[in-house]
Amino acid sequence: MSLPTAPAPSLEVSGLAYAYPDGHQALFGVDLTVARGERVAVLGPNGAGKTTLVLHLNGILDAGAGTVRVAGLPVEKRHLAEIRRRVGIVFQDPDDQLFMPTVREDVAFGPAAAGLRGAELEERVMTALKQVGMEAYATRPPHHLSFGQRRRVAVATVLAMEPEILVLDEPSSNLDPASRRELADILRSLDVTVLMVTHDLPYALELCPRAVILSDGVIAADDRTQDLLCDDELMREHRLELPFGFDPRSVVVPLT
Ligand SMILES: Nc1ncnc2c1ncn2[C@@H]1O[C@H](COP(=O)(O)OP(=O)(O)OP(=O)(O)O)[C@@H](O)[C@H]1O
Ligand SMILES: [Mg+2]
Repeated sequence: MSLPTAPAPSLEVSGLAYAYPDGHQALFGVDLTVARGERVAVLGPNGAGKTTLVLHLNGILDAGAGTVRVAGLPVEKRHLAEIRRRVGIVFQDPDDQLFMPTVREDVAFGPAAAGLRGAELEERVMTALKQVGMEAYATRPPHHLSFGQRRRVAVATVLAMEPEILVLDEPSSNLDPASRRELADILRSLDVTVLMVTHDLPYALELCPRAVILSDGVIAADDRTQDLLCDDELMREHRLELPFGFDPRSVVVPLT
């Protein structure tokens, strides 16, 4: 009799290296494992390779060396359709994500491609738009919305897929404080694995019990977010700066 096996981690990145076609090497052997249900922040200065890492998680970029697995499934051409159902990426720039004539069609695009139709599709779209408070904008063209509104719609396009892992590249940038908090509430309420790239260190502390620092294309630290933010030397070494007056030592971190 075989013992029940633990579920595969949501994400397993191993020895991932990548050079862009112009020869610029951005990743130099990244190792990162994220268990199901974890929320992990990816911190690091501009140009560290964070977005490059994100673009490997659903096969937009092909690993130069090393492997990426999502729920045990290798990110390879033959699995891409399945991988893209499981990994929802909210891109750094919402304009990379929204390309349909209306908000509704943008949010419906992924679930429709996955086979949803009719009332079921409509319900999925409206639920996702309600989650981000954009249901009143369903018939508007995305390019008529403000940047923050487009970001919220971009989040809805991904929520509508009900992914197993949600990857967000700078989700709080350009959101007003209320929208930023509402997005935090959404992320906390979902039963998904979250990988969140952010320069917003208080946001990382609030949402992600664990954080990694990506610096010069490698994982330079991997620890409790609060411990990382309290390590002044480590923070300085990787150009991470806390906002004026913010003391991570005094924050009581939420349990979930
Ligand atoms: N298309 C490209 N061709 C060549 N080099 C690139 C390309 N895109 C990014 N790079 C380089 O790869 C490195 C990593 O870039 P990346 O966008 O992953 O950084 P990042 O950590 O996401 O930065 P930021 O915090 O500014 O978003 C940088 O040095 C960047 O100049
Ligand atoms: Mg980036």
